[in-house]
Amino acid sequence: MTDPIQPQFIEHNLNEIADFKGRLVVFVGKAATLDRYGRRVNRLCKGALSKYVTSSAFEKLTKGQCHVLSSPVGLSAQAIIVCKAERRPKVLQARRAGAEIAKAANDSNLMLLAGTNSRSAEIVYGVCLRRYSFNRHKTSDKPAGIKVSVMVMKHEEVEAEYANKAALTEGTFFTRDLINEPANILTTTEFADRLLALKDLGVEVSVLEEADMAKLGMHALLGVGQGSESPSKMVVMRWNGGGKEAPFALVGKGVVFDTGGISIKPAAGMEDMTMDMGGAGVVAGVMKTLALRKAKANVVGLVGLVENMPDAKAQRPGDIVKSMKGDTIEVINTDAEGRLVLADVLWYAQKTYKPTGVINLATLTGAIIIGLGHENAGVFSNDDGLCKKFLKAAKDEDEGAWRMPLGKAYDKLIDSDFADVKNTGGRPAGSITAAQFLQRFIEPEMPWIHLDIAGVAATKKETDFAPKGASGWGVRALDRLIADNYEA
Ligand code: BES
Ligand code: MN
Ligand code: ZN
Repeated sequence: MTDPIQPQFIEHNLNEIADFKGRLVVFVGKAATLDRYGRRVNRLCKGALSKYVTSSAFEKLTKGQCHVLSSPVGLSAQAIIVCKAERRPKVLQARRAGAEIAKAANDSNLMLLAGTNSRSAEIVYGVCLRRYSFNRHKTSDKPAGIKVSVMVMKHEEVEAEYANKAALTEGTFFTRDLINEPANILTTTEFADRLLALKDLGVEVSVLEEADMAKLGMHALLGVGQGSESPSKMVVMRWNGGGKEAPFALVGKGVVFDTGGISIKPAAGMEDMTMDMGGAGVVAGVMKTLALRKAKANVVGLVGLVENMPDAKAQRPGDIVKSMKGDTIEVINTDAEGRLVLADVLWYAQKTYKPTGVINLATLTGAIIIGLGHENAGVFSNDDGLCKKFLKAAKDEDEGAWRMPLGKAYDKLIDSDFADVKNTGGRPAGSITAAQFLQRFIEPEMPWIHLDIAGVAATKKETDFAPKGASGWGVRALDRLIADNYEA
């Protein structure tokens, strides 16, 4: 696990500034007036700071952007990071400023002179979320762990405010580590073991093995994994922080590697399919977050863990499998495997836990990337109320999410000649027919959302709060959805 920064919130003491050896961070608003920290820094560095903030270069900085003044005279600090931020920034502006500071840190310890900034905890949250790197497999070149001190008024209050965000940072890093991990290491068994470790935090975790799932009739899921040496598993994580009410269910696609199976994928880019367990990774990160912050809600997280491989024993195109629900499925394309896994996990979740609602997450279709790129996840729902709540949570957390349609005409496209349903509907509306397939395994009155996260789970470019690779998309939005709507 990549360890998040543990920021220290320290008492206001201007005398510590002169001797600090890392990078000092000062916050200056667009009026370019220096607060008492800025004035102290400016005096020590013989006016270099005020010279910069009165220049046109500072004027051109946008909100949250940083400028590094290197090797300042009169200070022990290696550099001064000037961050353009007002004293009362908006939440997301504060977080983005924090992320910019993390990038400007350049592996040095930081001291944030936050003073009376009303969003100090949010700024620190931005620093910590962005300061992530997946370096466990590098034998050299490992970026250093850095210390971050935050000099701020009422530092104990700010520290308390930060506690929830520390839980979210840890949950997000758990998700990113799982998604970034290659498939030779994160096998189905290793994945289950990492989830079993959540027991230490008070999460109830149980693992259903292939024999258990066969008894339940989960042949849609089992068919996907039957060509792999790694055993298929379903892991159930329960966090019971609420009262006696039924839980909310989160369901994740956990294909630890997707070769496509017998309908094999082209070689170019196939290595990206290590992230095809992204839905399960997000569910895991949310469960960890809920446990760390002791959320007063009942949530059950279920993940289907399989590997989709070509093999003599692998499932073939044309095979017909029977799902736990009882519906038969014609497997037209073995590469449309995620929906087969989810069909059984969704059905099991509803039958076993009678949840008040279900949200599933999956890196389900390449088509959603064609439609929405890497900016938004596709949101499909049968329930306007739940959908609206989720979209608000995603917006508040700066996680792109865009609602897509469902409808009878799309559903028709997956009627099969020989079974109840087929697993692909051809190229048109590929993401929607995938969602329609899932909806066939949702009970009529069950509030449900399907999130197609193929475009957002991991990216080739850095995003605001993550370096390139796994983003952790969804952990913040889902945690907020639960906090705002399901907690006492
Ligand atoms: N895991 C893929 C979808 C995917 C593509 C995720 C790109 C992330 C990046 C999924 O299992 C898949 O292969 N979907 C097929 C469905 C098709 C065969 C109907 C696809 O999108 O091409
Ligand atoms: Mn596939
Ligand atoms: Zn897949």
